[in-house]
Amino acid sequence: MCGIVGYIGNKEAYPILIKGLKRLEYRGYDSAGVALISKEHQLNVYKTKGRVSDLESFVTQKDISGNIGIAHTRWATHGEPCSINAHPHYSTSETLALIHNGIIENYAVLKEKLQAKGYLFKSSTDTEVLVQLIEYIKTTNHFDLLSAVQLALGEVIGAYAIAVLEKDHPNEIIAARKSSPLVIGIGEDEFFLASDATPIVEYTDRVVYLEDEEIAVIRRDEELKVVNLSNVETIPAVIRVKLNLGQLEKGGYPHFMLKEIFEQPGCITDCMRGRINLDKNNVVLSAVIDHKEKLLRAKRFIIVACGTSWHAALIGKHLIESFCRIPVEVEYASEFRYRDPVIDADDVVIAISQSGETADTLAAVELAKSRGAFIYGICNAIGSSIPRATHTGSYIHVGPEIGVASTKAFTGQVTVLTMLALTLAREKQTLSEPAFLAILQELGNIPAKMKEVMALNDQIAELAKIFTYAHNFIYLGRGYSYPVALEGALKLKEISYIHAEGYPAAEMKHGPIALIDAKMPVVVIATHNGLYEKVISNIQEIKARKGKVIAIVTKGDTIIRQIADCCIELPETLECLDSLLTTIPLQLLAYHIAVCKGMDVDQPRNLAKSVTVE
Ligand code: M6R
Repeated sequence: MCGIVGYIGNKEAYPILIKGLKRLEYRGYDSAGVALISKEHQLNVYKTKGRVSDLESFVTQKDISGNIGIAHTRWATHGEPCSINAHPHYSTSETLALIHNGIIENYAVLKEKLQAKGYLFKSSTDTEVLVQLIEYIKTTNHFDLLSAVQLALGEVIGAYAIAVLEKDHPNEIIAARKSSPLVIGIGEDEFFLASDATPIVEYTDRVVYLEDEEIAVIRRDEELKVVNLSNVETIPAVIRVKLNLGQLEKGGYPHFMLKEIFEQPGCITDCMRGRINLDKNNVVLSAVIDHKEKLLRAKRFIIVACGTSWHAALIGKHLIESFCRIPVEVEYASEFRYRDPVIDADDVVIAISQSGETADTLAAVELAKSRGAFIYGICNAIGSSIPRATHTGSYIHVGPEIGVASTKAFTGQVTVLTMLALTLAREKQTLSEPAFLAILQELGNIPAKMKEVMALNDQIAELAKIFTYAHNFIYLGRGYSYPVALEGALKLKEISYIHAEGYPAAEMKHGPIALIDAKMPVVVIATHNGLYEKVISNIQEIKARKGKVIAIVTKGDTIIRQIADCCIELPETLECLDSLLTTIPLQLLAYHIAVCKGMDVDQPRNLAKSVTVE
């Protein structure tokens, strides 16, 4: 994870770097730092524990001049969060400064080698090894910075996106990537670099996404040059990115998470735009048109994902199996990549990722590709690594998700999975036409029904106040609602630090029921679908043990109202689309409990938005 940003041009670098770091703070926020080369050729490095705002306070009274610089916001992997471990790291002579996102896996061996040669290390990071190694290669061989970086990266095992400054070369930044994202922005007489395009779009829409093992040579008054580790030059592919700056701001909401929850009706409309035509009763995904044969021939689908995206994958399994009669396996990407999975050329692997950068999901994609599977990506971040590594895919088009707790990406992923299942089902004729039409028309009604759910915000905020006492929560659901229960529990854990578990409701009696007492809040998804009566029995079992039941029910439900402690009533929908509505009250409940407890909702402890390390 970590966010990196850089600037070279005619403007003062510091304000651009700080603004960029704030846009990237979702990637990590335990320490931050900046390196600037001043007009007097001083290479000034300032860094501190804490947020970007702490860095701003730290540099008051310091020389922050210069129109070239690099900056970093950290999510600690090696070495605790503290100012010494914060980036940028100086080389021993303090003539080089380097920022890094990723992990240098062989750092211990390299460190020992450098220590034996007299290099002194200040931090406990893997990153410091890299800057020292570059300096060592540079000075012993009398190389320029580019050649030293090329040689050093050849010795490194692991993942990196780096940027390096050299004190005596105030007109050059050398940047490189392998398995960690890096984007170069090309402006008028200026260049930007960043972990994603969000710090750049304010200044230019022309960007280059570096590929693995590519090095960008960014020099003032010269064209951008891209070479590989062997110095073979490639012509950088400049693409135009479109990002609405308003989407990167809170827009009057107290937190990004709340804004993103409320955006969901609009996001789902955007996600369906140009894909669903309700007048013509049609759903079209261009990826399915382009790769129809491959997808229809699939004997099996395997979905790989992590976290919330994995929960969406579980819903995708239900949808694809029930609409298309194709077997679907759902795997944690982190487990899949290190097993020796049985994959063949008739398998379609679907990779789901909001950020498109999750290291485990990307590695799972590469593994499946190497075994001959056809890979379909479902991602949000346009141009990110996973969509570029897959054969085809569908973006969810929900706009940038900044809050660390994923919300609108989940409903966007479920919407794309529903459209995918519907498209394939129609081609395979595995769903009757009336059933297909009913689902399609109801999918079109979901944004309006989501708006009705948003109107419950105040009720849920009041409810949240009652449950801030809890140290544990249980979430229960069956069928399509089981993944929603998992997702509700994850949301609560992430932002309120309350321990929560999600279970299939019927599993409760096989163990978790022992946890129920008068203090235990149990959120039960009990809409008027499928296994409704059975869920009522599960609620009775909880009440018999005095548990506190918060039931998510269908509007007008009179039966559960008599048993549960509180009910949240949702508009009626089809069972297969239920999760698009039931997940929202759980997002709001987690949000309000966290706010009541005074937690940092958008930047919860220990987490980062984009998990680009294993
Ligand atoms: O970007 P991805 O969808 O690949 O991210 C996967 C998980 O890291 C992510 O969903 C994580 O679990 C969220 N913090 C959940 O809110």
